[in-house]
Amino acid sequence: MTENFEKDEFSGTQTTGHEWDGIKELDTPMPRWWLWTMYATIIWAIGYWIIMPAWPMVSSFTKGVIGYSSRGSLEQALADASAAHATDRAALVTMELSAVKDDARTYQYALQGGKSAFAVNCSQCHGSGAQGAPGFPNLNDDDWLWGGSVDKIYETVKYGIRSDHDETRLGEMPAFLDDELLTRPEISDVADYVLSLSQSNSDADAVARGKTVFVEECASCHGDKATGLREFGAPNLTDAIWFYGGDKKTIVRTISKGRANVMPAWVDRLDDSTIRQMTLFVHSLGGGE
Ligand code: HEC
Ligand code: HEC
Repeated sequence: MTENFEKDEFSGTQTTGHEWDGIKELDTPMPRWWLWTMYATIIWAIGYWIIMPAWPMVSSFTKGVIGYSSRGSLEQALADASAAHATDRAALVTMELSAVKDDARTYQYALQGGKSAFAVNCSQCHGSGAQGAPGFPNLNDDDWLWGGSVDKIYETVKYGIRSDHDETRLGEMPAFLDDELLTRPEISDVADYVLSLSQSNSDADAVARGKTVFVEECASCHGDKATGLREFGAPNLTDAIWFYGGDKKTIVRTISKGRANVMPAWVDRLDDSTIRQMTLFVHSLGGGE
């Protein structure tokens, strides 16, 4: 066949026999190295199909002879990481929580782990810097509703506040208007009294009337001096640190409708070492007692 095709006189290459308006196509062969590379990739691909998971089938896929799976390799990596921490974790769960601080290595392990566990589990409500938001307490300050020792924080995180766990912390701010415990004017007066505890207030008469209401209706939970009682989670009302808000409108709303925000219980969701890590992390934020 080829002898029918003429040779191009300039390049010395065979032509393909195609010709368009006097322009002839040369039949230049692929370079050898290129061809061999391509054959090698084909052989590689076939080998790969045999060894690794490759072809989709109707309900499954070809698994490959070495049984590799990316899920399996992730599981292995997680198991390795977990095994590497086993010693630290064992130390953390057996130690008295208050003693962990004296063991530099375990404490460091707890803080690092607690920081990332906090970001995953707690930051949605408490903020990424644990700074809180209205209705969600700031965990950096030393103003604690339920107590800021490691043991108190541990209990709070484990069982939650008004959560669905049997051991949950309980205590509620009643709805004084909705439940007809106080009238609107009484609520306005007692709100003025509450405000007067942390800032100057001009309406002395309202404050005086409000004080009477406070002593009768509020002191049992918030304390005679309104500095709060931790057994009920009742906030200190004298410190100008507000949980729900410290303008008169918000205070009136709090007293009228009540408040009962929920902090979930974590004991059934996370393992003890993670809860301990988060507890120590929160305690380390600056307000720990
Ligand atoms: C669904 C929202 C939510 C999530 C998630 C959440 N919290 Fe809370 N947390 C709250 C609320 C609301 C309160 C305040 C409860 C109250 O009114 O007393 C609270 C209170 C607390 C307190 C008590 C503060 C004090 O002053 O005594 C601690 C400690 C705390 N949370 C830690 C955590 C940790 C650690 C996590 C993550 C494991 C977490 N919280 C996740 C909503 C949440
Ligand atoms: C049965 C106990 C109880 C009684 C009685 C009670 N409180 Fe409370 N109060 C609480 C609790 C608990 C909270 C916190 C609610 C929460 O954590 O969601 C609270 C919260 C508040 C807050 C919100 C503070 C903030 O930082 O935003 C104000 C204001 C307040 N109470 C005022 C009063 C006044 C005024 C009275 C009396 C009319 C009163 N409380 C009576 C338990 C009580």
